[in-house]
Amino acid sequence: MYTSLKTLHALTALVTIAGFLLRGYWMLTGNARLNAKLTRVLPHVIDTLFLVSGIALLVLLNGGPLTEAWMLAKIAGLVAYIVLGMLALRRGRTEAIRNTAFVAAIAVFAYTYGVALSKSPLSWLAVFAG
Ligand code: HEM
Repeated sequence: MYTSLKTLHALTALVTIAGFLLRGYWMLTGNARLNAKLTRVLPHVIDTLFLVSGIALLVLLNGGPLTEAWMLAKIAGLVAYIVLGMLALRRGRTEAIRNTAFVAAIAVFAYTYGVALSKSPLSWLAVFAG
């Protein structure tokens, strides 16, 4: 059970960023698919699975790492990714704001992914430092 949830969580993490990159590409190239119904609904389904599996893991661990620095960095990273993602794909008023938010969202996600793998707020620095 724990292992399948963790696999689901890690997989949906990759699918959410892949979908975000694709939608960002569609935004930059002015592709109408960005506003298709499926494009608007599917990311919510994936992101819900992603978040719910993360919370379920915490429940199974009885809150285990909830107060650890890397877990807090991950939660903060996810919130920042969501806010920047909304700015990038919908809310950003000018093209410059949307493009900057797009790049920042990718950077924040990359940081947070490194935090998840290393279980350290140092992220990729900790991964490569061993
Ligand atoms: C952008 C945000 C996130 C990314 C990229 C991410 C990614 C991952 C990955 C790849 C793993 C597997 C790590 C491994 O194989 O050891 C993992 C584990 C886990 N994640 Fe996330 N996650 C994110 C956000 C969250 C959030 C918001 C929560 C909780 C609400 C959460 C809870 C957990 C838990 C409890 C584990 C298991 C840790 C363990 O086995 O000790 N994650 N995450």
